[in-house]
Amino acid sequence: MTEKQNEKRSPLNRQQFLGIAWLASLAALVGEFVAATFKFVEPNLDMGFGGKILAGRVEEFLPGSVNLVQSGRFFLVRREDSGFIAFWQRCTHLGCSVPYDDENQNFHCPCHGSIFDEEKGEVVGGPAPRPMDIFPIEIIDGEVRVDTGSPIKRRSFSDEQIVYA
Ligand code: FES
Repeated sequence: MTEKQNEKRSPLNRQQFLGIAWLASLAALVGEFVAATFKFVEPNLDMGFGGKILAGRVEEFLPGSVNLVQSGRFFLVRREDSGFIAFWQRCTHLGCSVPYDDENQNFHCPCHGSIFDEEKGEVVGGPAPRPMDIFPIEIIDGEVRVDTGSPIKRRSFSDEQIVYA
């Protein structure tokens, strides 16, 4: 069979085939470069305590619930009005880790007995000098993200501290 006959049978000649293969390789290379760049510039989540933590999706937290996010050392409280607030688990007295007291529905420090209420984190008993510190919350595309690198010390509670979806 002559080359001329071969060209008639095949829809692509060798030059066209090599051109398409070269373009496909180039497209794959550009795709990998774009994916790597996107990965590099996207916000870094779940770096652990001190960074931004992805707590979960809004619908995972029921109104009136207190949720410990261990990796971020905070309680994500979803109040009855559906607003969110994130309390640092650290006591504002001398820094002990404060557990949630299910029975009394508050936060009760085991070290010297400070008690903080569950919706505002305000001191309702004991020696703590100020409410529980909070972390900034962002809700993006239904995801609740908490920045544990920027704790906020408060003198008192205000409505601006609550974040809504
Ligand atoms: Fe919590 Fe003292 S450290 S009450």
